[in-house]
Amino acid sequence: MANVLVVGSGAREAAIGAKFLASPQVDAVFVAPGNDGMELLGLTPINLDVLDFEGLIDFAKAHVDLTFVGPEQPLVAGIVDAFEAAGQTVFGADRDLAQLEGSKTFAKQFMQRHNLPTAKAQHVESLAAAKQVLADWGAPIVVKADGLAAGKGVVVAQTVQTAQSALEHLYTQDAHAPALIEECLSGQEASVMAFFAGTQSVILPLSQDHKRRFNADRGPNTGGMGAISPASQFSTEQAAAARKLMLQTVAALEDEGMHGCGVIYMGLMFTAAGPKILEYNMRLGDPETQVLLPQIDNDFYDLIQNLLAGKQQDLRLNGQTYVGVVLTHPAYPAASKPALPVLVPTEQLLAGGEWIPAAVRNENGKLLSSGGRVLTLVAAGTTPQSARTAAYELVREYAGELAYRDDIGVHSLE
Ligand code: AMP
Ligand code: GLY
Repeated sequence: MANVLVVGSGAREAAIGAKFLASPQVDAVFVAPGNDGMELLGLTPINLDVLDFEGLIDFAKAHVDLTFVGPEQPLVAGIVDAFEAAGQTVFGADRDLAQLEGSKTFAKQFMQRHNLPTAKAQHVESLAAAKQVLADWGAPIVVKADGLAAGKGVVVAQTVQTAQSALEHLYTQDAHAPALIEECLSGQEASVMAFFAGTQSVILPLSQDHKRRFNADRGPNTGGMGAISPASQFSTEQAAAARKLMLQTVAALEDEGMHGCGVIYMGLMFTAAGPKILEYNMRLGDPETQVLLPQIDNDFYDLIQNLLAGKQQDLRLNGQTYVGVVLTHPAYPAASKPALPVLVPTEQLLAGGEWIPAAVRNENGKLLSSGGRVLTLVAAGTTPQSARTAAYELVREYAGELAYRDDIGVHSLE
């Protein structure tokens, strides 16, 4: 029997951990640092930070056969390079590959070198240069700070004035801030993810996240308020186009000598001129993971280990549609204080993989929120409609004082 370590603490890592634990080959799954809610799923949180590479490697050497890295910060900081140097089996992008997520300019240049369709963009490093592009291109226009910003570094400006104040804000903080100014695209967005190792890849179905805080895509950007997958509003041709872009990306990485493994996440916008790549992430999406992994019928431990061993894997899907609704602290994305009670899930909910904790603390048997996105409730259906109905039944029962969007998955009904 094998033991697995998942690095990270959110609902994505809870879903990954639960998927590994469902493998008959897996005995124990540790999550570093995890959250207390994960214990209800049979996972074992261990008190190590995602950036404590030494501590994590020591733990992996002593206790685990495979480590899977969830979030971007440790990937960009080189956790995979460190594990490999220590001879530990790890699934995730190394520091070179993680630049595709860590630097928007690096990703843009990569796409341009390989003719991967993306928005026209100009790299700038001063307010004067940025203002010149703004004067030349006009609005609407998109301003993207380079580097990791947890989804908060992008301003889609409908007017020149909004763009100007975004730029002024950026350049008051850092007079030489690297940034991208992009042409503003329009269309529906979807995410497509793949597990890959070298030239082998396993491409997951399309999913759709809902990033804005409030219904009808209003309010500030968040880490993600809910997701649906498969996203049935996209045609078979559109899904095939997305897969093709993924295969081109994997081939392009190999072309550039960027060998490695992990996850590729493409944020796509289906414009009138076809799909364009908005961004790459080198990790699974949250909350998309919570609606993608339950579709997979393969033994997940086998899937990852076989990919690492260079064997082509066929993905087996169960054909269900999943809707995941994120329950947040009502103040989210602002400071999520004070802690609020979290209703205790039933055994049935836990066994069904419907209750996925992101920031749940256990205080003497009482569950409390310990962050902005508190948990994801996930339900399945044979149609988007029935999956939505089932998910919102759970939400009504378990939300308590937590907040959520009412319209997760509605675009799949159109
Ligand atoms: P990103 O972090 O690059 O994915 O951007 C975050 C969000 O900003 C995306 O999910 C889109 O909604 C929006 N966005 C990014 N780039 C563009 C673009 N070129 N045109 C329109 N919207 C964009
Ligand atoms: N759900 C968006 C992300 O994980 O980046």
